[in-house]
Amino acid sequence: MIYTLTYESVIVKPMDNQEMGLLLEQSRNNNIRDNITGCLIYYMGGFIQVLEGDRTKVLELYEKIKLDKRHKNVHMFSYPR
Ligand SMILES: Cc1cc2nc3c(=O)[nH]c(=O)nc-3n(C[C@H](O)[C@H](O)[C@H](O)COP(=O)(O)O)c2cc1C
Repeated sequence: MIYTLTYESVIVKPMDNQEMGLLLEQSRNNNIRDNITGCLIYYMGGFIQVLEGDRTKVLELYEKIKLDKRHKNVHMFSYPR
């Protein structure tokens, strides 16, 4: 069964196209490797991301994302089951 997790966060400083490109490239490469899919929305100074995949892989990724210095106030609003 596919596990889904959704969070929101606030950017630390505005990201330009190059920074966003790097983030997307890194994320896509890792997510293909780990069989994770989802959606990332960058809007009004923050992110919303839906992550879907194997429960352990998604939770491991979320722990890494929480520590990422490119954003703050990471708040999950769909809870692990
Ligand atoms: C808003 C945001 C979304 C991210 N989404 C992903 C993601 O979907 N997949 C991913 O691997 N890393 C994502 N990252 C990057 C991770 O925080 C982390 O830097 C990365 O997974 C480390 O990859 P590495 O182990 O290859 O160095 C995201 C970072 C931010 C700030």
